[in-house]
Amino acid sequence: MAIGVFDSGVGGLSVHRSLVRQFPAADFIYLADQANTPYGGRPGEEIVTLTRAGCERLFAEGCSLVVLACNTASGIALRRLQQTWLPGYRRELGRPVNVLGIIVPTIEAATGLPWEHEAERRGDKVEKLDVLAVFSTPATTGSRVYEIEIDKRRQDVAVFSQACPELAPMIEQGAARDELAAAVALHVKAITTRIGRPPDRAILGCTHYEIVGDLFRAALPAGAPLIHQPQATAEALGRYLERHPEYDAGTGGRRRFLTTGRPGAQSSLVEAFWGGPLSFEQA
Ligand code: DGL
Repeated sequence: MAIGVFDSGVGGLSVHRSLVRQFPAADFIYLADQANTPYGGRPGEEIVTLTRAGCERLFAEGCSLVVLACNTASGIALRRLQQTWLPGYRRELGRPVNVLGIIVPTIEAATGLPWEHEAERRGDKVEKLDVLAVFSTPATTGSRVYEIEIDKRRQDVAVFSQACPELAPMIEQGAARDELAAAVALHVKAITTRIGRPPDRAILGCTHYEIVGDLFRAALPAGAPLIHQPQATAEALGRYLERHPEYDAGTGGRRRFLTTGRPGAQSSLVEAFWGGPLSFEQA
């Protein structure tokens, strides 16, 4: 058995890297749906269908758990799949399988509160707001998932989202760093203008953006903390596996990388992030 990691493309590698560090002995299969990337501009129904197909593929490869290392899939598709598809699919397979997302661990890290916690609305005047910027795909921004879920837990955090429609496709295609730096700077400037001041903290709410995390760091005010989804997800998976020993993560330390797109090497941008060559097999 193995842990599956799914994204529309190379962005989920940022989460995969953290998971592998946390669980070196586990077996991992990464699936990039590069035939259909980007997801961020697609209608919700398509995102649900593509995400389900990715999960089915990973379960067919022998995964017991699939981590959706994609905010767009986690925000748009996960709940639907858990409610309408997984129960029947589990019966069909006759073994325990589950799909986990990355938004819950990110919100826990951003609020410092467990997911189950919902604040009582006391109507007190909040004197000082902590302004949190979320950079994400248009589908994630449109879902307002970060605004809604953080507001349920913390009324002293004001969330502003910035959709960056061109950024994941640029990263997927391995664009030049100066072009990427210019695009990141424009989005940081746009959100700063909208808020009226720079944000206090930020979430890179699309896993592709971690690949250019240093460019976000350079464009954001010095010292403004970035909430790291990969680390938050790895810690959350650790807690989940402790509570659910029925999910077998394997013990062989095997790593496989599959793509629905063109097999072979990825761009030099991705390899520089990864720290070495990375070859994908045809899914
Ligand atoms: N990496 C994905 C995310 O975290 C999606 C990028 C895309 O396909 O638009 O949202």
